[in-house]
Amino acid sequence: MKKFYVTTPIYYVNDVPHLGHAYTTIAADVLARYHRLNGHPAFFLTGTDEHGQKAEQAAKKSGIPMQEYVDKYAVVFKELWKKLNSTNDDFIRTTEERHKAAVQRALQMLHEKGEIYADSYEGWYCVPCERFWMEKDLKEGNCPDCGRKVEQIKEKNYFFRMGSYQQRLKDHINANAGFILPQSRRNEVLGFLEKPLGDLCISRPKARLSWGIELPFDKDYVTYVWFDALMNYVSATGWPDERFNKAWPASVHLIGKDILTTHAVYWSTMLMALGLDLPKTIFAHGWWTVEGKKMSKSLGNVVEPGKAADVVGVDQFRYFLMREVPFGLDGDFSVDALISRVNVDLANNLGNLVSRALKMVEKYCDSTVPSRPADIDAHWITLNGDAIARYAESIERLEFSRALEEMIRLCDTVNRFIVESEPWALAKEPAKKGKLDNVLYACAESARLIGKMLEPFMPQAAERLKKQLGLVEFGAPEWGGLKGGEKITAGEALFPRMDEKKIAEIKAALAPAVPRKEETALITFDEFMKVDLRTGIVVSAEPVPKSKKLLKLQVDLGTETRQVVAGIAEHYTPEAVVGKQVLVVANLKPAKLMGVESHGMLLAAGDGGKLVLAGTWEPVKGGLKVK
Ligand code: ME8
Ligand code: MG
Repeated sequence: MKKFYVTTPIYYVNDVPHLGHAYTTIAADVLARYHRLNGHPAFFLTGTDEHGQKAEQAAKKSGIPMQEYVDKYAVVFKELWKKLNSTNDDFIRTTEERHKAAVQRALQMLHEKGEIYADSYEGWYCVPCERFWMEKDLKEGNCPDCGRKVEQIKEKNYFFRMGSYQQRLKDHINANAGFILPQSRRNEVLGFLEKPLGDLCISRPKARLSWGIELPFDKDYVTYVWFDALMNYVSATGWPDERFNKAWPASVHLIGKDILTTHAVYWSTMLMALGLDLPKTIFAHGWWTVEGKKMSKSLGNVVEPGKAADVVGVDQFRYFLMREVPFGLDGDFSVDALISRVNVDLANNLGNLVSRALKMVEKYCDSTVPSRPADIDAHWITLNGDAIARYAESIERLEFSRALEEMIRLCDTVNRFIVESEPWALAKEPAKKGKLDNVLYACAESARLIGKMLEPFMPQAAERLKKQLGLVEFGAPEWGGLKGGEKITAGEALFPRMDEKKIAEIKAALAPAVPRKEETALITFDEFMKVDLRTGIVVSAEPVPKSKKLLKLQVDLGTETRQVVAGIAEHYTPEAVVGKQVLVVANLKPAKLMGVESHGMLLAAGDGGKLVLAGTWEPVKGGLKVK
């Protein structure tokens, strides 16, 4: 039996992971877990995309050396996946030797086969997208993808004969209905392939970008970040070694709809040229917004998955993402929706049902599951059989949300059954002990099946529920798995209801941060020490003639009195500052402000409104070094 092989995109390391990254990884984890739980070996791959301009620019901005920078972010991703209980079997980084070797091997092979050729290129280049564009594709002279300015570039480059695979790719898509999913994305790709498919520029001159994998046949170039990144799906499984054939082809590449073309077109044609099979399925899911807005650093509304999982619980967070939006459609993240899913579905319905059922077994049956009725109620078999069949079918189709809906519907049914059969009334009549036992067996067995269903989605809750039911494994997904005699410990509720206090805590934790405009570049201690900061005492102050903003100050710096012009007149009167403790930048180049010489600068804090001068907590003399 071939392994079920599922992948996520390898994420860029130019920023911290967010909701969208967690979404794809959790979906892949659910699939991998589902297959393993059903006795089907699975291999689940994720990783980081560490080369290219984005990484290089981000590292430069932060002032950290390249390799150190990518190492740091790879750890951030790894830690997050651990926290979210991702069971990825491997984590590939494109800066690893095993990957670089595979990419160079592929480049060499394609070059030798004539699939890669050199040509002079003249055209437009979008730096942030790392893409060339034809003049006709530009939108008002800007990049049609991101809308930013493009640069005119003329240089020699290497090209992959992607265009020659256009018909083969179309034929493959047409012959394999499940190759690109959902259907709407498949149509999109077929539409894209109606226009002539050009060749793909797969090189970047080192003069422009050095952070990449060198072309084995031209050391002045590195390869295009997408040629590099896409290869991860085979490099991680050992290509070109023999062991690769045990894993390949991938069962499903899970991606977001933003990178459909690179996967459906670039990757597929690369595989064809390399003589490798295509993946069985490429599934492009939808896009998350946050409270109706695009998630972006500049809006400060990026949802950090680790933080969300900390405040609502890992299982609860995983459940929300998989339940809230049909996989494939776009979705919106809102704290209200998150809270409501947890309280309505998990606390009130599922959690309540399980704890009710188990507590009754504790109370009426001495904490022991009654023996399995000899004549099992056919109704239960059908009911559960149908729910489980629909659940399984949904997961096979990657309809996670529908699968969970089936689980919740089963909870509804069992909750109603309890109300209707009134075990508490049966318990009062010894003659009805047999009936009571049968009802409680049905309750406990339902809890087991519900556990079976929630297991790939909410692994922690699954573990607890198994213990409560006295089981090591949930067992087969068919009615009648509990034999009777299992020891029950109801314990605490699986999903506590979130009260007002908890809700306030979640809202505070997930509230949009203050927008970050520019990430501040990091400086070294030595760089900081270049600033000669001193304590000072304002000796005198007077307005600068004809200026609304400026005050001319004399500041005692211990060894000398300095004249400093400060833009504080709208916030302080001259009288108010005389005698004040201040902090002065003492080695600032002198400047003339409104004709008045200034030999330093005062430190003050403000957000565009009120400005407040900075000083020391306790009074000190002028001229002390601040560090
Ligand atoms: O594109 N909603 O990396 P990336 C849903 N390195 N999913 C989202 C999302 C959102 N708002 N934002 C991100 C890259 N994602 C390349 C991939 S693969 C060979 C190279 C998820 O860090 C979604 O899976 O920009 C999307 O495709 C992926 O993160 C993009 O991650
Ligand atoms: Mg992206």
